[in-house]
Amino acid sequence: MSHLSNVKYSSGDWRNNNTDAVAVGIYDDLNLSRQLQGVNRELGRGISNALSANLIKGKIGEVQIVIGKKGTVAFVFGLGKQAELSPETLRKGAGGVSKLCITKKINSVSFLVPKDAKESYMSQAIVEGLVLGSYQFNEYKTVDKDLFELKKAVIIGGNKKAIVKGLNIAEGVCLARDLENRPGNIATPEHLADNAKSIGRSGDMKVTILEREKFTQMGMGALAGVASGTEVPPKFIIMEYMMGPKSQKPKILVGKGLTFDSGGISIKPASKMDEMKYDMCGAGVVLGVMKTVSKLKPKMNIIGIIPSTENMSGDKAYRPGDILTAYNGKTIEVLNTDAEGRLILADALSYASKHYNPEFILDFATLTGAVVVALGHVATGIMGTNEILIDKIKSSSNITGEKVWEFPLWDEYLDQVKSNIADVKNLGAPGQAGSIAGGAFLHSFVKKDIPWCHFDIAGSAWGNKNLPYQNKGLATGEMIRLVIDLLKI
Ligand code: BES
Ligand code: MN
Ligand code: ZN
Repeated sequence: MSHLSNVKYSSGDWRNNNTDAVAVGIYDDLNLSRQLQGVNRELGRGISNALSANLIKGKIGEVQIVIGKKGTVAFVFGLGKQAELSPETLRKGAGGVSKLCITKKINSVSFLVPKDAKESYMSQAIVEGLVLGSYQFNEYKTVDKDLFELKKAVIIGGNKKAIVKGLNIAEGVCLARDLENRPGNIATPEHLADNAKSIGRSGDMKVTILEREKFTQMGMGALAGVASGTEVPPKFIIMEYMMGPKSQKPKILVGKGLTFDSGGISIKPASKMDEMKYDMCGAGVVLGVMKTVSKLKPKMNIIGIIPSTENMSGDKAYRPGDILTAYNGKTIEVLNTDAEGRLILADALSYASKHYNPEFILDFATLTGAVVVALGHVATGIMGTNEILIDKIKSSSNITGEKVWEFPLWDEYLDQVKSNIADVKNLGAPGQAGSIAGGAFLHSFVKKDIPWCHFDIAGSAWGNKNLPYQNKGLATGEMIRLVIDLLKI
């Protein structure tokens, strides 16, 4: 609910901007006198004192307050080695500056773009860092009066267009984080649907919400099965943004919108069950991207699909052993009601395959605990069927710093989800390749020849990566920046 949204661009002198502080980066391998032209007079002495006192060295991730000659408050942040300057360095530096502004209750800051960082992607990274670093989730604090927000930033000397783009991307990420951080009793399927509608209204999108009765009658037996244990109304959300040429194939994004995953009858242990409010982070990615799309208005066709429900137990809930029929007609033997994400995605992927002729389908889901075992909280696990698409995803990953790691989807794994009595089962081989089993299951529901990639974000969607532009223990909004890069908006 709270993040910096007033970001301006200026090409003039930082002293004219009427901000409460200035932020400047320094390298750790370059003499100070060779890097501080514009700020020399006022800040040079303060910074060189801080360097000789070892308060700062210029390493990536460092931020230090220095007081200039006329009482100017300066945030000095590390840029690392000059030859290795990257957007990620700036994103971290800017994130660190935002966080320190908030701790020190500084209202506004002028951020000097380093002179080696003239490329537009560098400016974009700076805004992303400033806005994402300023993010706080305080919606439910009513007693703590010590809350403080960073109100304004002026970026001095960057690329104006890239700054606007970066701001819109960061706004999309912050919206996703808000939805994701909200608990299951607030961020219900209806809440996600309402957000989809309001994004659609402001962004030339057609948003359709299918209710339980409708999607059940249409044949989405897998979503209906998972949703049978809850009275909170499930929704199947479709967002169509068709501002590109008619002949252009749409790009489809599918997101798991499980607003609370108790495991169902195959109930989860109590410890950390609260974290299962984050089981809609795939939906968060789709809504975050669509929010950014609604602002940047590219001439493209992009479709977002979100199957959304809770997974609860009770006398109406689906059972282990049940057989469900998905939207593409395939039958699924349910061996564990806690492997529900792949079930609701089965209907969404079938729907996407049947109703559109897409350029590609990407799905985002907090699908398996096993991906956390494999990759920790460092990277998103990806797998798919099309090498060219996967290569593009890897290249967007390198550009945005949002790490992905590919798992194989060999035939041996596809065999492991075959059922004795139905077409497929929702478990793979016990204790083996759990994340790949999830992908192998989903594979059955994507029409052959449609390029497709599954993103298992269970390790990357929330948690503690200790990045200055993320918050410890809260939702990260990862993959939104990667997708925007991939879409080439
Ligand atoms: N939402 C969970 C996956 C998950 C678990 C995400 C822990 C983040 C942290 C998913 O629905 C699930 O329960 N998966 C099961 C699959 C298993 C039953 C095959 C899992 O990973 O244990
Ligand atoms: Mn589950
Ligand atoms: Zn789940």
